[in-house]
Formats: sequence, C-alpha cells, structure tokens
Amino acid sequence: MFGALRLPNTILFGSGQRHVIGSATARFGTRTLVCTDARMAQLDVFAAVIKDLEAHGVEARVFDQTIADLPIDSIKECVAGVGDFKPDSIIGIGGGSCIDMAKVVSVLLTHGGEPSAYYGEFAVPGPVLPLIAVPTTSGTGSEVTPVAVILDSARGTKIGIASPYIIPHMAVCDPELTMTCPVGLTACSGADALAHAVEAFTSKTRPADAMLTEQHVFIGKNLLSDHFARLAVSNVFRYLARACKDGSDVEAREGMMLASLAAGCAFGTAGTAAAHALQYPVGNLTHTSHGDGVGALLPFVMQFNRSASPEAFAELAGVVGLGDASMSVDERSQLFIDEVATLFAAIGIPRSLQALGLASGHENDVAAGALKAERLVKNNPRPLDLAAMLHITQAAYAGERAALLNL
Ligand SMILES: NC(=O)c1ccc[n+]([C@@H]2O[C@H](COP(=O)([O-])OP(=O)(O)OC[C@H]3O[C@@H](n4cnc5c(N)ncnc54)[C@H](O)[C@@H]3O)[C@@H](O)[C@H]2O)c1
Ligand SMILES: [Fe+2]
Repeated sequence: MFGALRLPNTILFGSGQRHVIGSATARFGTRTLVCTDARMAQLDVFAAVIKDLEAHGVEARVFDQTIADLPIDSIKECVAGVGDFKPDSIIGIGGGSCIDMAKVVSVLLTHGGEPSAYYGEFAVPGPVLPLIAVPTTSGTGSEVTPVAVILDSARGTKIGIASPYIIPHMAVCDPELTMTCPVGLTACSGADALAHAVEAFTSKTRPADAMLTEQHVFIGKNLLSDHFARLAVSNVFRYLARACKDGSDVEAREGMMLASLAAGCAFGTAGTAAAHALQYPVGNLTHTSHGDGVGALLPFVMQFNRSASPEAFAELAGVVGLGDASMSVDERSQLFIDEVATLFAAIGIPRSLQALGLASGHENDVAAGALKAERLVKNNPRPLDLAAMLHITQAAYAGERAALLNL
C-alpha cells in the first residue's frame, strides 16, 4: 500500500469561514498584498475582508486587475505595483486566476526574475511568502494545489509552474462567496472539478519508490489522493446539476465547493492527465474557458483510457451508485463514462470540440500541442503518442465516442 499528500497547513471549509481571514493573516505580519480582479474588488463582501484585515492591524495593498486565464503581462503589472511595500503575506481571493496570480507573485517577490524561470516542475528554489487562498468559484482547487497556470502570450500558450513551495499556507473555502456565480461559470468550473477528480483517480500508478515524491510533483494514483477523489466525484454527481439549476441552493453550493476542494486535494498530489494536456492547445485555439474545454474533452479521454484502468472507472460507477455486482467491470466502467457525458450534456458543456468552437483542420495542431505538456502526458494511464492524441482529438472534434471503443 502507498499513499502521499501535499496540502496546505490549514484548510477551512464552510459558510462564513472567510471571517477568519483578518485574524489569521495577522499571524504572518502587518502587511499583506491582496490579489483579486475588478469584479470582486467592487463587492461589499470584499470591502468587509479588507476591513477585517485592518481591524486586526494588517495593512492591505490591493491589486485588482487580475485578468482571467492570467496573461503574463498582468503578473508583471502586479509585481511592478508592489514597489517597496514589502508584504509579509499574499492573499489570492477570486477564481483560479486570482489564486494563481498570488502564487506566481509570491514566487517573484521572493526569488526575483521572470515567470518563465520557474516553468515546469521543481524550478522554484525555496519557500515563498505565505499564501492565503480564498476561492470564489467551485472548480480549480488551486487553493490547495502546487501549481499555477499562466498564459504566456509570447509563446501563445498556457504553461504551468509546479512546485510544492507554492502550495498555499492556508485555504479558506467559504461557499457563500460562490453564490454569485452565473450558471455558465458554475457549470464549467464544476466540470473542471470533476475532471480533476477523475483524472487523479485514473492516473498512472507508479512503483512506490521512496524517491517518487522527490522526482515528481505529480506522482500518480495513490491511496490518499484516491480518498479525496471519491469524495469529489460523489459530491459533483449529487450537487452540480442542482447548483446549475438553482444558484441560490445553498446546500448545492456547499456541496460543490467541498467537491472542488476535495478534487484539488486529489490532483494536487496525483496530478491530471490527457484532458488537461489537450485543453492547453484547445484553449489557445478557441479562447474558451478552461472548464468548458476540459469538460468537452473528458468523456473522450475517459473512453480512450478505459482499457488501461477499467477497474478504476468501474469503482467510480459504484461511488455514484451506478450498476451492481452482477455487471462486469467493463459494463460498469462504461456506465460511469456514459453518466459523465450525460451530466455534462445536461448542464450545457459543449459535447464536442466542434461545438466548443474549434475550426476544422486543427486536429493535428491540438494533438501535437498536447504532447508538449509533458508533466500531464506522463501521468496518463495509457501511453500517449501523436497517433493516440490524434485519435482522441478526432473523436472529440466529431463528438463520436464510439470511434474510441475498440482502440
Ligand atoms: N492552479 C491550479 O491548480 C488550477 C487548476 C485548474 C485551473 N486553473 C486555472 O484557473 C483559471 C480558471 O479559474 P476559474 O475557473 O476559477 O475562473 P477565473 O478565475 O478565470 O474567473 C473567470 C471569471 O469568473 C468571474 N468570477 C469568479 N468568481 C465569481 C463569482 N463568485 N461570481 C461571479 N463571477 C465570478 C471572474 O471575475 C472572471 O470574470 C484558469 O487560468 C485555469 O488554467 C488552475
Ligand atoms: Fe483544471
């Protein structure tokens, strides 16, 4: 048996937990940098957080120009604006883009240089300024993960900085902050959370070598990340459709925030795989949201991967109450994949790359681009080469999972 987890020192989950931010931040010192975006900065709930910081003797410098998907120029703008403020901690409050902004800025303020110096795995040389992550979407799980995703406009692609040093010190997950998410955002961020949980649970299993966590940031399937993945999958199936149908359903919002948090705990150690690798070029070419892209791709990736880990997919069928003992592993695994496709269709995730807006003739570019995301490709349960990526891309473009059945 083998398990591993890398997580924040403190994870808080529950309605109203944001009211601890002032008191908790004061433990790191008297100055904090708050990374958020223009939408969040206008809300009363944000003003209350700043007031709470001040009440605890913490001076807050606010950067509120984070742009979704985190283009590199906005990171440079944030760092330039800090000047000689010298924060003792950094708070990222908002969607995944704001939390990732806080992570990257924490690296740059501590170690200097350009973001590109830290691309890939283990390139951050040491500890960074303490991070407090406060998500307002139920999707990325970035509040607990060792990765930040940047849009490097010069390279024309998204790229990751992956290092255990950028795991936030504290994650404050308050579902009340997600009540304002419109249905489209609820759906795509929920699809992202399910993709994290499923890709972590079905990721490659490596031999339990004692050096595994030293050699990989994302180590593949293991007993402890599996535990969180099951919780995430179960909660997504219980609550995502409800949260999409009625955004004021508090229990559904809570259930989805627990799902995305648990999915982050799972993939932050195990890692994600082909759906996330393919999303990089797909996102670049279609300019669609991360969640819509991974959601559109996930059923096709699962179909391709099923033969490599049928037991894992069959187990997830059990987690969501599908099938029974009389059914074969093959039948139950297929049942789960079909159910994911049904759920995504019901909440409006595009059913194909064509529906997502990918122009025809780009299948080769997508397949070749996805292979460049090595840290994700190496984590896929079934080996991936150009031909394999192309099979998945062509099937996903056409919206035809049947084409992958007997591959
Ligand atoms: N670091 C990680 O572990 C990780 C994992 C997955 C994805 N990501 C990255 O996270 C980013 C996506 O993050 P996201 O999906 O959370 O969205 P986001 O942060 O990109 O925000 C998208 C939009 O939603 C709005 N928004 C956020 N919260 C809202 C709320 N409560 N009510 C209304 N509007 C709200 C934002 O203002 C913004 O306009 C991508 O860049 C993706 O690559 C990071
Ligand atoms: Fe994701």
